[in-house]
Amino acid sequence: MSGDTSTVPIDLGERSYLVHIGPGEQARLGQRCRDAGLGRRAMVVSNPAIARHFGQSILTSLGRAEIDARLVTVVPGERAKKLATVGHLCDQAIAAGLDRGSFLVALGGGVVGDVTGFAAACLYRGVALVQVPTTLVAMVDSSVGGKTGVNCALGKNLIGAFWQPSLVAADLDALTTLPARERRCGLAEVIKHGAILDLDLFERLEEALVRRPAAGDFALTPRVGLSAELARYSVERSCRLKGAVVAADEREAGQRAWLNFGHTFGHALEKVCGLGRLHHGEAVSIGMVLAARLGVRRGELAGADSERLERLLAAAGLPIQVPRGTDPAALLAAMGHDKKVRDGRLKLVLLSRLGQAFVAGDTPTAMIEQLLNEASREA
Ligand code: GLY
Repeated sequence: MSGDTSTVPIDLGERSYLVHIGPGEQARLGQRCRDAGLGRRAMVVSNPAIARHFGQSILTSLGRAEIDARLVTVVPGERAKKLATVGHLCDQAIAAGLDRGSFLVALGGGVVGDVTGFAAACLYRGVALVQVPTTLVAMVDSSVGGKTGVNCALGKNLIGAFWQPSLVAADLDALTTLPARERRCGLAEVIKHGAILDLDLFERLEEALVRRPAAGDFALTPRVGLSAELARYSVERSCRLKGAVVAADEREAGQRAWLNFGHTFGHALEKVCGLGRLHHGEAVSIGMVLAARLGVRRGELAGADSERLERLLAAAGLPIQVPRGTDPAALLAAMGHDKKVRDGRLKLVLLSRLGQAFVAGDTPTAMIEQLLNEASREA
């Protein structure tokens, strides 16, 4: 793949860091770590499949920079996102001789990033973290912004910490190894960024996928794909948009909550449908459709904007309907366990127009119930 490397600064005072985006970033990782002033000992955390693809080249790059690193793996998928994994990673790091000046490298997608990030926040009460995202979801969302954590019996991501990385290296070459389904899931988060913050990004995607669909360098469906340039732009623009939000509201007291657009419905869908049946980006895609329709129902979003969002998601090959057989009452109950419930009120991110979101805590439960009933009947 050709194209230049872009660098996006995330401005958080003395915890500021750089996100490097481009082909060949994994090979440059060791030097990037040295430039960021990181220590000489590291533990790279990955899962077995990702480690097979990229583990050796990462170790080689770190070794060339005279960083002593070892690679450990966690089980693939959401199953790894539990407290026991964090304890196990900390044990391995301590046994390997890492000290407070050492650092952890998360090599993988969102799960590896979340669990490694939380281990970095806990180990010796905090060691440095480097995020090396290998999926589109991780590149455009989870590797930037410092959210780390694990799941528990009552829901996703309910235990965790804000722990910012010291460096993010998004190697666009890794996108070539991704299954199309994973690319679609990543694109759901890019579409989300467009829908809540940036009409121009939304319209670029609409132009490429709805108006002039073509097979690109990175297939999404058998007929539609992203060009290398649009993929690079999507990652860079998403990091800039998210970085600006995080810089202004790191702890989610205000605008950062917008990034949860589609996620309250999405997390409930993941829980009710069973973790693994719907991938996160797919659940978020359906969640965004439900949130947009709710905005129309409340009289705050034009029906035409909601339809444009549905068309774009569908053109990207993402699901826009609640899976057949989903119990709407179970969905509503699962939404009640979401982190966005405060003082007993469900806070939902809605759109006032494409490119502009807001948080509403006053939606009558009966309205949400009716929406979910209708969406389940449509399936
Ligand atoms: N993924 C949402 C956030 O980082 O705030």
